[in-house]
Amino acid sequence: MEEKTQAEYVVIKAKDNGVQVIGLTRGQDTKFHHTEKLDRGEVLIAQFTDHTSAIKIRGKATVLTKYGTVDTDV
Ligand code: TRP
Repeated sequence: MEEKTQAEYVVIKAKDNGVQVIGLTRGQDTKFHHTEKLDRGEVLIAQFTDHTSAIKIRGKATVLTKYGTVDTDV
């Protein structure tokens, strides 16, 4: 739990309506386990957890991490 709550946050800002942030499961199986829909201007602040090792973003968005800022090419 300690590790979880201290994990880095990532910030996803939707630049369009209907942006999807999809959580992929940690471990041998890689499955979608959650989809969050964001509308233009909405911001999601999230952490990677025991259940989520990767995320996939569909649509026009800006993603801010400790590695820098990246925009989807839509
Ligand atoms: N289930 C995979 C894992 O925990 C999810 C994953 C992480 C993944 N990084 C990836 C899938 C890179 C494809 C490519 O490792």
